[in-house]
Amino acid sequence: MTDLDEDKPKDGYQREDWQEYYDQDDLRWDLGEVSPPLKRLWQEGVLGAGRMIIPGCGQGHEVLFFAEQGFEVTGVDYTDGGVGLLRNNLQKAGLKAQVVQSDFFELDDSHHGHYDLLLEQTFFCAIHPRDRTRYVDMARWLLKPGGLLAGLFYHTGEDDGPPYNTTQEDIQKNFSAGFEIVRLEKCDHSIEKRKDKEWLVVLCARSA
Ligand SMILES: C[S@@+](CC[C@H](N)C(=O)[O-])C[C@H]1O[C@@H](n2cnc3c(N)ncnc32)[C@H](O)[C@@H]1O
Repeated sequence: MTDLDEDKPKDGYQREDWQEYYDQDDLRWDLGEVSPPLKRLWQEGVLGAGRMIIPGCGQGHEVLFFAEQGFEVTGVDYTDGGVGLLRNNLQKAGLKAQVVQSDFFELDDSHHGHYDLLLEQTFFCAIHPRDRTRYVDMARWLLKPGGLLAGLFYHTGEDDGPPYNTTQEDIQKNFSAGFEIVRLEKCDHSIEKRKDKEWLVVLCARSA
């Protein structure tokens, strides 16, 4: 994702701000395909199988890819633009997934302890850093004990956002209490424009 507009509110984006990008057909964060390191994690057998939730999934390249591999996928996004594109893409591909239009932080009780895996792809960097603790709590609440949080965290090196910078220490500080850190390394096969800027992360939810 390249930096989003500078005249946007400095204290984080609201639903309307994201929707504006969809209205303008300006999906500058969108890779146009499943993120290659996530595909590789699956090829390496790291992600197992079962129920997967993808927060802030946008038009959902990851939703489609993992649905095709047999995961029971739930894609969450709160914009009309994101879920509209995702529904269309699923229909065109003849694939099934649960599409939930909701604020990730307000998912209802039916999602509690329901997932084997939460997949992170440019959502943690899209939320304001003040919401990181809520993200961690929500991830714990969604996952079964022993469930995995796996994905990519964006080390932009910039002060502002979105996308907001994530350092190695940010990951350790936020996740260590609730998760065992199984893997935390600079991704060595990011796409060119994110080269050296992604943390490849696999975390395992601790039992309460
Ligand atoms: C940077 S985009 C990434 C989209 C997708 N993951 C991708 O990589 O193509 C962030 C997405 O998160 C969604 N989003 C941001 N905050 C959200 C929230 N609190 N609840 C649900 N969706 C949210 C936005 O609507 C947007 O589609």
